[in-house]
Amino acid sequence: MAKISQRSGAAATAMLGLGVYRPKRVVTNDEVCEVLDSSDEWIQTRSGIRTRRYAGEDETLIDMATLAAQAALESAGVGADQIGTVILATSTHAQHTPAAAPIVADRLGSKAAAFDVAAGCAGFCHGLSVASDLVRGGNATYVLVIGVEKLSLFLDPTDRGTAFIFADGAGAVVVGPSEEAGIGPVAWGSDGSQSHVITQEPGCQASDAEHPMVVRMEGTAVFRWAPFAMADVARDAVASAGIEMTDLDAFVPHQANLRITETLARNLKLPEGIAIARDVQDSGNTSAASVPLAIEAMLRKGEASVGDTALLIAFGAGLSYASQVVTIPPLAGV
Ligand SMILES: CC(C)(COP(=O)(O)OP(=O)(O)OC[C@H]1O[C@@H](n2cnc3c(N)ncnc32)[C@H](O)[C@@H]1OP(=O)(O)O)[C@@H](O)C(=O)NCCC(=O)NCCS
Repeated sequence: MAKISQRSGAAATAMLGLGVYRPKRVVTNDEVCEVLDSSDEWIQTRSGIRTRRYAGEDETLIDMATLAAQAALESAGVGADQIGTVILATSTHAQHTPAAAPIVADRLGSKAAAFDVAAGCAGFCHGLSVASDLVRGGNATYVLVIGVEKLSLFLDPTDRGTAFIFADGAGAVVVGPSEEAGIGPVAWGSDGSQSHVITQEPGCQASDAEHPMVVRMEGTAVFRWAPFAMADVARDAVASAGIEMTDLDAFVPHQANLRITETLARNLKLPEGIAIARDVQDSGNTSAASVPLAIEAMLRKGEASVGDTALLIAFGAGLSYASQVVTIPPLAGV
């Protein structure tokens, strides 16, 4: 039997730069309610959402991912030619084949290994963990992790359980070697026995080749599960990082719904004064893009700073979830 060599890489990894793309068009609750049987007051009370953004025809999923990735590369000071792997998390790339990641890599001018991750709203945190392990394992020096969604093409605008929640956008980070560890061990898992709770099904727009599927969700089931089951997962991530809750500067949960965030934060007994991401109010639920978009919003508004210690947790379709403690990365222009 031949003796096979294995690689080993960086002793520690971190997110070296962050970039995002927010679509141009802001959509109010009143606009959603032109078709949906609901109201601005009901939507704000039940979800915290005030506005969201829908991408136009000139803002494709590939466009948004590429622009966020370019901004992340700029923030990190890393060239596209230095990227060893591109990991793209999404649930709204229209085809399984070809995947979106190689197309984005090509747009960036990269021939890196490139693949998509399908882990619903938890996809970005899954990608982050895989990226960190690729760098630590020596199979890449720099990895681009992108979360991107164009959920507006997957919505039934008359569905009272989803139409006001989901939205579009993209966020990306460059993961690479670092003197200090900036990405803690992942706490992750899945509960496939609840896979029926969030699905894509042939929808009301089935005649339209552009968006033949729509998202369906048993919202009450998600609400019963996330704020409680995810508290244990988040505690596991904090303990695995070897820190205490009191060491955290920021809490960045998946921006599912403000009520889920507030209940989860209460259940975790977070330290007083910790910054909590509430980007869902302005951006809606952008699924795999929500965590990097929420970090960017906190940096832009001065609610968090580069170098802060943050607890990330993302959860959704699958049901899949992933959580890790991270150091907040730089953002170009902030
Ligand atoms: C979707 C969600 C807001 C619905 O809220 P809910 O309180 O569970 O709503 P229910 O379906 O039990 O309905 C409660 C009432 O509101 C009404 N209602 C439901 N959707 C409505 C809407 N969009 N607008 C106005 N009224 C609505 C129902 O008809 C019902 O009225 P009734 O009491 O007179 O019968 C809530 O379940 C939720 O936030 N779930 C989590 C979803 C989420 O964030 N998912 C992210 C996945 S990553």
